[in-house]
Amino acid sequence: MLWLLLIASYLIGSVPTALIMGKLLFGVDIREHGSKNPGATNTLRVLGKKSAIFVLLIDLAKGALAAYLPIYFNLTIEPLYFGLIAVVGHCFPIFAGFRGGKAIATTAGALLVANLPLFIVSYLTFFWVIFLTKYVFLGSISVGLSMLAFAFISPKLELELIFLFFSLLLIYLHRSNIRNFILGIEPKINDKTLIND
Ligand code: G3P
Repeated sequence: MLWLLLIASYLIGSVPTALIMGKLLFGVDIREHGSKNPGATNTLRVLGKKSAIFVLLIDLAKGALAAYLPIYFNLTIEPLYFGLIAVVGHCFPIFAGFRGGKAIATTAGALLVANLPLFIVSYLTFFWVIFLTKYVFLGSISVGLSMLAFAFISPKLELELIFLFFSLLLIYLHRSNIRNFILGIEPKINDKTLIND
């Protein structure tokens, strides 16, 4: 049962929302436009606000659903593990050649169900950083840094290691954004490259 749920979590996370929506509704591969990232931010940039909200909600629901699986089946295993396995699926999806997104929405869903304090701290920081800087990637990196801070105050070693791993993963996934920022070519949240412009 445990292994089935872990695999299910990975498969749920692997559903490539932005890719499916872009192809079905617009006939475009989101991975060939804008930042080429199949996530809500690039969907906003390339396909517009409504599509981005849809992608954001579904990607968030993937993390939340996976984290809820052990609760639903009355398993005494930390729900965060299942949510974060969905995050791995989102980043390295079996249904999309292992070319996935940068984890922020799916991580939000996982934390919403499995660790509400960390969800509140990290995503308030996320929105605050974006509000101040207008750069989504800086908000995303702040989520990684919030997880890193939680790694140090977690009571269990396994949670410390998990938070440490995922904070480093989040930062690693944003390496192209960091490079673009240094080069002065990273787009701000309101910079669009809409395909129908
Ligand atoms: O959550 C993803 C965001 O931080 C960056 O997305 O498309 O600008 O690479 P993007």
